[in-house]
Amino acid sequence: MIGCSDKLTQLPPYLFSRINQLKREAFTKKLDVIDLGMGVLHHPTTHRYPQAKGMPKFRRTAADWLERRFGVTLDPEREVLALIGTKEGIAHLAMALLNPGELALVGDPAYPVHRNGVILAGGEVFFLPLRQENQYLPDLGAIPTAIAQRAKLLLLNYPNNPTTAVVEDLTFFKEVVAFAKKYDLVVCHDNPYCEITFDGYVAPSFLQVPGAKAIGVECFSFSKTYNMAGWRVGWMCGSERIVGYVEKFKSFIDYGVPTFLQLAGVSALQSPLAVVAETVKIYQRRRDQWVQGLAKLGWQVPTPKATMYVWAPLPERFRAQGSLAFAERLIQETGIVVAPGVGFGPGGEGYVRMALVTHDHRFHDALLRLKKFLRQEPVSMPGSRGPGGEPGAVAE
Ligand SMILES: Cc1ncc(COP(=O)(O)O)c(C=O)c1O
Repeated sequence: MIGCSDKLTQLPPYLFSRINQLKREAFTKKLDVIDLGMGVLHHPTTHRYPQAKGMPKFRRTAADWLERRFGVTLDPEREVLALIGTKEGIAHLAMALLNPGELALVGDPAYPVHRNGVILAGGEVFFLPLRQENQYLPDLGAIPTAIAQRAKLLLLNYPNNPTTAVVEDLTFFKEVVAFAKKYDLVVCHDNPYCEITFDGYVAPSFLQVPGAKAIGVECFSFSKTYNMAGWRVGWMCGSERIVGYVEKFKSFIDYGVPTFLQLAGVSALQSPLAVVAETVKIYQRRRDQWVQGLAKLGWQVPTPKATMYVWAPLPERFRAQGSLAFAERLIQETGIVVAPGVGFGPGGEGYVRMALVTHDHRFHDALLRLKKFLRQEPVSMPGSRGPGGEPGAVAE
């Protein structure tokens, strides 16, 4: 069974985690607690240091939401951990698990912290190609046995950023659980887009697969579902053991999510589903306007079933110059900003990601500007392709 990293073992549990635990127990037993433990003056509860793993109400509400939405049952006390956004959680998961040189399996292309978190942890990345012809799913059978045996962590993300790929049902996740059991590795499924889905598609949770909770965790975010990207709130849930490693690691670094933001998260999760439906409707409208508008300009791009992105293969004529040069020229000549695919890993070359995050009328403007741009001859821009298509250079 995968343990945590040596550095985490070397550190005893954070002293104040223990003291805080005892303090909570004393409150529960209705002892008259006089708290001189933490360096904060008398303030309303929302000003104090938060409970680092998340206040009980936050963890309970997150667990209730998973039960309602996916039929997944979690123990909020031991299987849910508040995060300062899932980006933070994934980076710290890698640090909590990996010793220098240990291997993680990461999609290519992928959301940058999947790779960067592993590198910052001193780990090694083995890229799993995500190819259009394989619905952007990794081919687990193609992973060399020696690599699978060495790997300690597998990072996944469906609905996927940047490719917008989805899993139709639990078939792939079941394969993942079997693979993780066979090779004894930890799975982290990053699931921030599960509610941003279109045309009746409903995204599953990795934790719906029997046995998933034993080997993995899943990360959820308020950033996309509730438009709270700048609030920095999310959570990790699943395996008590793995959640515990991340909780311990974080206890040496941060104090968790500020209480008032946790309470905002609780309100969001308890809000009527119509709130999210309204957001989804807006993205779907923009998606249709954009995809159809591009098609009229002769740029055929797939219609995403989920996420707020369009993953667009470069127009044939521009392919040779690469995604970075294309994106650079586009911004310089038209003011339109897109994310070059190579920023998400070498496998993202040949694509750009467009985010549906501006006002409807701006898409109209963008189409007018693109019309002129696409009529021009591509100009070769030597040297602007980036060092070997290195990822991590651009916006996420
Ligand atoms: C796949 C994926 N994971 C995680 C994140 C970060 O989410 P959060 O705001 O919760 O840190 C993003 C944001 O773009 C993302 O696309």
